[in-house]
Amino acid sequence: MLLTMNRIFLIGYMGSGKTTVGQLLATRLGYNFIDMDTYIEEKQFKSVHQIFVELGETKFRLLEQHCLHEIADFDHVIISTGGGAPCFFDNMNYMNEHGISIYLKLSPEQLAVRLGDSHTNKRPLLAERKGEELLRFIREGLELREPYYSQASFCVTGDVESSIAQICNFVETNKPVE
Ligand code: S3P
Repeated sequence: MLLTMNRIFLIGYMGSGKTTVGQLLATRLGYNFIDMDTYIEEKQFKSVHQIFVELGETKFRLLEQHCLHEIADFDHVIISTGGGAPCFFDNMNYMNEHGISIYLKLSPEQLAVRLGDSHTNKRPLLAERKGEELLRFIREGLELREPYYSQASFCVTGDVESSIAQICNFVETNKPVE
């Protein structure tokens, strides 16, 4: 299979580090970086939170799909996708057809620590969930999303530095000879 290495979609649950890893990876590989949520916000002149509240999740998912199709035309780019993006419409297939997808896999416990530390109202799906309720929500959500995430071209685990090293190695060893 010929993998398109010049467009890399980072996928994974909220809090899995897609943006942090994506920005550093883009610098390392000399690629551009796009955060899909930011892309949607700039196009809509609204925050993701506002879109959820004012237009609803269904409309957000349509906007997300539309933006994915636009971004999938860009080259030499690392794209940090929203946590739900692979799980709606044919988005997962679409990403795999237009580039490579990399799943940043963390356990529900690791995600709960990160999201418990950092989350504010910024992530509409998490709202005010904390502690055991947050962990239960992540466990259940991840179970539903895992079948989509597991269709990724490559999966990495571990901290930011080790994820970047694994991805660079994957890109280098699979890059077609030019
Ligand atoms: C969502 C994840 C968010 C954002 C929206 C919905 C999800 O992105 O797209 O709040 O359904 O998991 P991050 O994964 O970047 O937080």
